[in-house]
Amino acid sequence: MKDLLTIFDLTKADLEALIKRALELKQAYKRGERYTPLSGKTLVLIFDKASTRTRVSFEAGMNQLGGASVFLSSADSQVGRGEPVKDTARVISGYADGVVVRTFGHEIVEEFAKFSTIPTINGLTDEHHPCQILADVMTIVEKKGLQENFAGLGELKVSWIGDGNNMANSWIEASALCGFELSIACPSGYCPDKGLVSFAKERGANLKICVGVEEAAGNADVLNTDVWASMGQESEDAERRKDFEGFQINKELLELAKPDAMVLHCLPAHRGEEITGDVIDGKNSAVWDQAENRLHIQKAILEKLLT
Ligand code: CP
Ligand code: NVA
Repeated sequence: MKDLLTIFDLTKADLEALIKRALELKQAYKRGERYTPLSGKTLVLIFDKASTRTRVSFEAGMNQLGGASVFLSSADSQVGRGEPVKDTARVISGYADGVVVRTFGHEIVEEFAKFSTIPTINGLTDEHHPCQILADVMTIVEKKGLQENFAGLGELKVSWIGDGNNMANSWIEASALCGFELSIACPSGYCPDKGLVSFAKERGANLKICVGVEEAAGNADVLNTDVWASMGQESEDAERRKDFEGFQINKELLELAKPDAMVLHCLPAHRGEEITGDVIDGKNSAVWDQAENRLHIQKAILEKLLT
């Protein structure tokens, strides 16, 4: 495997191995052990969109593994002035050992991967966010104690409340690998792409698409949401606020889920829109562990792809 562009670049065995390794790396890091297999290596981050978690966790992870990172935003590089993706990909391949790309169309990251000779990691596109979903599944495995028997993942009901966006797409692919039921509630017109859904179903995903919010949340083990307007959709903000009314994880909805249900949100969150403040700051919320696990899972990804 050269690149990580979508969850479907992984097999079930790859996903389980990455999560196991991430949990080991997390423990070793917390014990204060130094482990520097990427000494002398360089990771380049090319970002066309804003980021806090993805940027800092990749840069910190690379540093912890003994390597270095270079951050390039489209605002201050030739990428933003229209240098072709394939040219940038070839040039960066001569300097670095891996690249993380955060951009708009998924075809951009595919083109980058095609023309680069170094591993290309998708740090979020309009269609997919694989590193986030790996951290999310890791958090479920960790907090529900499933690391000895990943089969337990297949018994869970995961629900998605909100937009059928990049996050939802990567969750759909994860359902095919992990076997959990994924129940998705989206307003009409915002359901996930039909082609992606049927492809995932063919690969074994257990999906309930566009059910009502209450049906999705009922008896759920994991409740998930994301912003109503993603990066690049700012002009649709007002319209989406109307369309997504009721598609919120709040105390009442949480009460329909299992008592120990875990609430996940990739962050950044808009309290009072897709999730209420009491829920995100409440006892069922795992969002801070989820955010921290970006670091550990990405260290496992970097170790796999760059060594
Ligand atoms: N969840 C996530 O990708 O966060 P950032 O946009 O801050 O990187
Ligand atoms: N769906 C959101 C996720 C942010 C991490 C976006 O693309 O903006």
